[in-house]
Amino acid sequence: MDGLNDWQVVAIIPAAGAGRRMQGESKQGKQKLLLELAGETIFLRSMKALNLPEIEAFFVPVSSAEEGAFRQELEKGLPEREVLFCAGGQERQDSIASALSAVKAWTSWRVPEAQRLVVIHDAARPLVETEAIRRALDVARSCGAACVGVPVKDTIKEVGADGIITATPERSRLWAVQTPQVFTWPVLMAAYTLARVEKITATDDAALVEKTGHPVQMVCGSYRNIKITTPDDLPMAAALLQERETAKELLSETKLRVGQGFDVHRLVSGRRLVLGGVEIPAPVGLEGHSDADVLIHALIDALLGAIGGGDIGELFPDTDPAYKNIDSRRLLERVLAKLTQKGARLVNVDVTVIAQYPKLAPYRPAIRSTVATLLDLPLTDVNIKATTTEGLGFTGRKEGIAVQVVTLVKVRSCGG
Ligand code: CTP
Ligand code: MG
Repeated sequence: MDGLNDWQVVAIIPAAGAGRRMQGESKQGKQKLLLELAGETIFLRSMKALNLPEIEAFFVPVSSAEEGAFRQELEKGLPEREVLFCAGGQERQDSIASALSAVKAWTSWRVPEAQRLVVIHDAARPLVETEAIRRALDVARSCGAACVGVPVKDTIKEVGADGIITATPERSRLWAVQTPQVFTWPVLMAAYTLARVEKITATDDAALVEKTGHPVQMVCGSYRNIKITTPDDLPMAAALLQERETAKELLSETKLRVGQGFDVHRLVSGRRLVLGGVEIPAPVGLEGHSDADVLIHALIDALLGAIGGGDIGELFPDTDPAYKNIDSRRLLERVLAKLTQKGARLVNVDVTVIAQYPKLAPYRPAIRSTVATLLDLPLTDVNIKATTTEGLGFTGRKEGIAVQVVTLVKVRSCGG
């Protein structure tokens, strides 16, 4: 019985607290879990954070006065999930005990009790990360009890009622406890039964399991998984959420896109020979409506290709007198502006000039640095190669020059 299908998982999300330490905000008459954090209630955010496919049902202890508001939240944000509300209790532990009765009575159990996992996660921790939940689930599957937390950073003191420090526990052994905490059903039931019989109280579930003697494995969580307790926690949580959203946006919206361009111009006498913005002294030059800089034209097509922007002929028709003899660098500038508009940033360009004539070696460094300057790229991201075609074809017969360009761009918010 090791496969994941041999296990069933449900979650208890205690949400029946009074939120007393939230004072100021509570004066608005709202339960702290119904306060909004970046446009969504703390409660809904916590529920969404727990919305993993392996969790089959949620059990939510609430106070009866607030059940309607919580239900509305779920209809808005998680309408498809099975959520069972139950009566909250005086203390958190009472609320969990009440939820456990509902979990026990759940009619969709298919596996034996030892393969039932219960995730307990405070509705006041909306920032919990999926990885921590999954780690805790894995650990609980192997040893029955897992508790997410982080090593404390501050030195902790025990202080007496008179304010006098009574002890300084060694910091290296101290962890701050969070939720989720995950237990197999028999382990959790044993803990709550013992607590009831021996009237043990605790502020977290692991503490009750510890009393039964069953080892609880600590699982490293994240310092960001804060519990919203006092008004100070709200701006902190909002900032952490904002940071996470920005990181997500960057990751999800950054795409790498490749583009390729190809162009040919005929070599004729009586024209200038301009390649990559560099004029090469020669008795023949390139024929064309513009200055016929075949390298820049191929480069423009590669850039347009990368942003799905059509081709050079569409953008700058050779029937338009405005482009007669125009310096192709001006056309490139307009295409680069289009890239910026689309949120695209160039990564590199690789150019192959196919020419029997002229010999390109002496001009390659000048072409490279001119192109790099035009593109605002470091030299290392611009490569210029040249090849002959061994006398074959039109380039071999020196009738024209062909250029191929491949480019890579990074696109953010790739609009159409
Ligand atoms: N909780 C609960 N039932 C209680 C007390 C608390 O279900 N009788 C829940 C809270 O809603 C919260 C979690 O347990 O999601 C952790 O509790 P805490 O952060 O202390 O919240 P409150 O008890 O609401 O706040 P306070 O202690 O400031 O009154
Ligand atoms: Mg409390």
